[in-house]
Amino acid sequence: MVAHRVYTQTDLHEVWGGVVPELASRDHVRRLLPMLRAVLSEAGLEPRDIDGIAYTAGPGLIGALLVGALVGSSLSMAWEIPAVGIHHLEGHLLAPRLEVDPPEFPYLALLVSGGHTMIVDVRGVGQYEVLGESLDDAAGEAFDKTAKLLGLAYPGGAKLARLAEQGLPGVYRFPRPMLDRPGFDFSFSGLKTAALLALKKARNDPAVHADLARGFEDAVVETLTTKVGRALAATGRRVVVVAGGVGANRRLRAALAEVAAKFGARAAYPRPEFCTDNAAMIAYAGYARLAAGERAGDGPMARARWSLAELRPPGG
Ligand code: KG4
Ligand code: ZN
Repeated sequence: MVAHRVYTQTDLHEVWGGVVPELASRDHVRRLLPMLRAVLSEAGLEPRDIDGIAYTAGPGLIGALLVGALVGSSLSMAWEIPAVGIHHLEGHLLAPRLEVDPPEFPYLALLVSGGHTMIVDVRGVGQYEVLGESLDDAAGEAFDKTAKLLGLAYPGGAKLARLAEQGLPGVYRFPRPMLDRPGFDFSFSGLKTAALLALKKARNDPAVHADLARGFEDAVVETLTTKVGRALAATGRRVVVVAGGVGANRRLRAALAEVAAKFGARAAYPRPEFCTDNAAMIAYAGYARLAAGERAGDGPMARARWSLAELRPPGG
């Protein structure tokens, strides 16, 4: 990784309590080229030093995706280099390979973001088998919704985690959804409801907020890591990586290391800035595909809906 930058639209969307698609796309138009110039100058590079371009092709908000796809494709034509459209989740799954001592294929990935909760068997670039996923809310979504109940601004996941640091474990014991069932699927919407009921019972007394946050976080972390342990046992994989924004959670990272050790495996993490959405992970996935001989398709590509199962290895 030579240089990277993240511009966050959190402030733009915070006042609305969630992402406003049209505002997001317009802001992409404004920010993209100035940021590109800044990153090139930070890296001391010229456009002619660039061998290929990777852009996020989906899944997600189509307006924002189109801005990236069109900028990526236009630059690829102007600079006469290939451009590849990358699946957002492929970026997350490969992000741990940006670090020193990267995990070798195959490995298990716990992908926990605002939109997804999955355990994926990663066998190589473009070879992903989803072993289990959330049947309702994603882990990050559950964090954000519970944070909102506690009066924390969107996206409240990291703020809730900070609040939980001051809370006592065991004061609130929330359900561990679906642990009594076989398989690797999750369900988090009931947990958010349990937190709401507990908060109502305490008449929303601010004095209970930290303990409640701690109880919620412990329930999510234990649910996630128990299923990861089962997946390690079922597949015999020796490495588990965490990916996606919730992967920045300190308690989750510690618990994952413990469960990995229990099953004779090791846990590998991207640094927190490569867990939350970033362009370095997309660049890495693009590099891996271009290096393996993939060439650009027929122009810009953006897809709002795109299943991981549709991905193929480069050239395959
Ligand atoms: O991967 P990501 O940056 O964006 C996508 O959803 O694709 O993930 C964002 C999610 C949000 O729900 C945010 O609240 C959560 O990750 N998150 C955290 C922490 N940092 C970010 N959740 C729990 N603890 C954290 N430290
Ligand atoms: Zn993401």
